Amino acid sequence: MKILMVCLGNICRSPLAHGIMEHLVKQKGLNWEIDSAGTGSWHIGHQPDRRSIAVAKANGIDITNQRARQFSSADFDDFDLILVMDKQNYRDVIAQAKTAEHEEKVKLFIPDGFVPDPYYNDEEFAPVFDMVYTRCEKLLQELKH
Ligand code: 4NP
Repeated sequence: MKILMVCLGNICRSPLAHGIMEHLVKQKGLNWEIDSAGTGSWHIGHQPDRRSIAVAKANGIDITNQRARQFSSADFDDFDLILVMDKQNYRDVIAQAKTAEHEEKVKLFIPDGFVPDPYYNDEEFAPVFDMVYTRCEKLLQELKH
């Protein structure tokens, strides 16, 4: 199973989803590959936002090795599942799909919901971490079966 987590900048939300899912998958001894990307290009090559690094670290997860990259249409072929953090990410990714098969791989990370962008509010990082962690646990259970 290869899963790509996608947000706008690939420095706040998707690095958390990437790091948390990788952590849980490793804990379960599964050989799944997890990655993340952003629809935007501003932060290519950057480490995750220091506030995402801090909240992950406080919860025992190290995301400092991650570097931001931009989503590309090659990702549709490279991944089984592309999970987007909000509806704008969904629109931006779907706009690059060339086939129905590509489109079917794209799903909202939170079904019928979204992960709020914490970039402009320091206090959002802890609740975003919790929301992403809870969803990753559930997702792992769903996908294992
Ligand atoms: P992310 O948050 O999509 O969760 O990584 C953002 C990070 C940076 C920007 C926007 C959102 N930005 O505009 O630079």
